[in-house]
Amino acid sequence: MKKIETTDAEIAKRAADLIIANKELLFQNEEKAKRVAELVLANIEKAKRVAELVIANEEKAKRAADLVIANEELAHQNEQRARRVAELVIANEEKAKRAAELIIANEELAYQNQEKAKRVDELKIANAEKAKRAAELIIANEELAFQNEEKAKRVAELVVANEEKTKRADELIIANEEKAKRAAELVVAMEVKAKMVAELVISKLEAINHEKLQLSLMETIDIARALVELRDPYTAGHEKHVGDLAKAIGAEMGLDEESIVGLKMAGLIHDIGKIAVPAEILTKPSALSGFEEKLVQLHPEQGYELLKDIEFPWPVADMVRQHHERIDGSGYPLGLRGDQILPGAKILAVADTLEAMSTHRPYRAALGLPAAIAQIKAESGKQLDAMVVSAAVKLFDGKESLDLGGGATD
Ligand SMILES: [Fe+2]
Repeated sequence: MKKIETTDAEIAKRAADLIIANKELLFQNEEKAKRVAELVLANIEKAKRVAELVIANEEKAKRAADLVIANEELAHQNEQRARRVAELVIANEEKAKRAAELIIANEELAYQNQEKAKRVDELKIANAEKAKRAAELIIANEELAFQNEEKAKRVAELVVANEEKTKRADELIIANEEKAKRAAELVVAMEVKAKMVAELVISKLEAINHEKLQLSLMETIDIARALVELRDPYTAGHEKHVGDLAKAIGAEMGLDEESIVGLKMAGLIHDIGKIAVPAEILTKPSALSGFEEKLVQLHPEQGYELLKDIEFPWPVADMVRQHHERIDGSGYPLGLRGDQILPGAKILAVADTLEAMSTHRPYRAALGLPAAIAQIKAESGKQLDAMVVSAAVKLFDGKESLDLGGGATD
């Protein structure tokens, strides 16, 4: 309890002592802080200087590095230059060598030129010699030219003379050719004449032979015809008339003479096969029976058989065989049609019809020419050939008889 008894004065004294002590301490602290701040500032200043030194050192280091690089570049350039200098030295040595060679070559050329100059001098002397000789030659040539002109003149005169001779020779050749041509033409003409004479002789001989042949054939035919007529007096003259009519119709149709002769010959013997028909049938005064008719109708085939082996110049045997054929096929013995029948047989058919109807028969009187003409007109293009009928009508239409005026009966 004593302490509690301490007085407020003491406390206040102590507090005042403490405040004084604190103030003293504060003052001291402020002094210390002040010194620390000054130290800090001094340190900052030192740090700044250090930093500047570092920067400066770096700058220096950089410059040193650049210098090193620059030195290396210079060293490289120096090497390059040294190399080029070495090359130039070598090149200069080469040039020096070539120059030395050129000097030697020039000396050689100079020597050669001297030699050439020497030769040129020699050539000049030689040329002068040649020029002299050339002048002499020109003089000699002029002499020769003069002589040649003289010769050319003489040659020209000779050429003119030769041309004259050639011209005359050509004229002679042409004249000879003309003569040869005429001679050849004469030879040809003579040959032609000789040929013509030979042909004439041959044709005359042939004509004589032909006439002889025709004559002997005619004589044979006449004998045969006479035989038929002996057995058949009623039809006496029928075959001769048919021969004449066939000839006249053939002529009217424009047939050639040879064909007409053959046609007449066939007409003259067209019924020769009737020799094989009994005479009593041929001369029977009444109509024939069917059997008798058949016997009579055999006569064309019989006639063919008799004539087929005789060598006529015309198809006489076939014309005789076909003279009862009709173009519509209604005839006999073969029933031929149209163009199967020979032209001569078609003419014989018309002549036979005209003659038979116009003259008497044992079994009837003559029917007359007008009836015969009417009959052939009616059968034109049917049984009888139209062209043949047309020719016969032209010859006999409107006439009184089949009289041919005598000329046609030869
Ligand atoms: Fe007959």
